[in-house]
Amino acid sequence: MPKLKLGVLASGRGSNFQSIIDAIDRKTLKAEIALLITDNPDAAAIQRATKHHVEYLAIIPKEFNSRDAFYTKVAGELQKRGVGLVLLAGFMRIVGRPLIDAFPHRIMNIHPALLPAFPGLHGQKQAVEYGAKISGCTVHFVDEGMDTGPVIIQAAVPVYHFDTEETLSERILKLEHRIYPEAVRLFSEGRIEVEGRIVRIKEQSPSDQSVVNPRVRA
Ligand code: GAR
Repeated sequence: MPKLKLGVLASGRGSNFQSIIDAIDRKTLKAEIALLITDNPDAAAIQRATKHHVEYLAIIPKEFNSRDAFYTKVAGELQKRGVGLVLLAGFMRIVGRPLIDAFPHRIMNIHPALLPAFPGLHGQKQAVEYGAKISGCTVHFVDEGMDTGPVIIQAAVPVYHFDTEETLSERILKLEHRIYPEAVRLFSEGRIEVEGRIVRIKEQSPSDQSVVNPRVRA
C-alpha cells in the first residue's frame, strides 16, 4: 500500500504537528508529511518543518479577495501534492467550503476539550471557568461548523479546583500528543468508517482502552 500523504495546517507553536513528525520518525505511523501550510508567517511550526525537511507554504488570508479564494488555493496546493489526509494542528480558523469539498471526511482537527463541551477558542479556560471536573481533548473530522464534526477519539483528564488555564492546558496537551497520531494511524490503516455523526473504528474491542482512555499522570 502506498504511504499516506499528510498535509498539515498550523497557525502557531506546532507541537501537535511535531507529535505527528515524531510518530513517523518512531515508525509507529506509516505516513509522510507532504506539506505544511501556515496562515501566519511567524508561526514556530515553520521552524519545525525546516528542521525536519518538510516543505512549507505561508498562505496569508488577507492577500486573497475572499475566504473561498483562500481555501481554494489551500485545497489546490494540497491536491497538487497528492495529500490524502489534512490535519489541522492549532489552525485557528473555521475551514471553508472549497477545502471541505475537496477532502470529504479527510480533514481532522484536534480540540482541547471534550466536544461538544467548550468548542471554539480557549477550550481549557472555558473548562476551568465553568468548574468542570473532567475535561480532555477530541480528535474529530471537520465540517463547516465550529468543532462540530464527527468525533474520532477522545481522552479525559481531571480538572482540579486549583487549576489555571495553563496547568490544565499542559495536562491536556500531553494527551493531545498521544491521540492525534493514534487517530492518524487508524486512518492510515483504513480502520475508520463514518456514517452520519458516528465514527466506527474497525476491529476495536471494549478492551482497547489505550485508545479511548490513555492514562497520564496529572
Ligand atoms: C492545541 O492545544 C490545540 O488543541 C488547540 O490549539 C493548540 C495548538 O497547539 N486548538 C484549538 O484550540 C482549535 N480550536 P500547537 O500549535 O502546539 O499544536
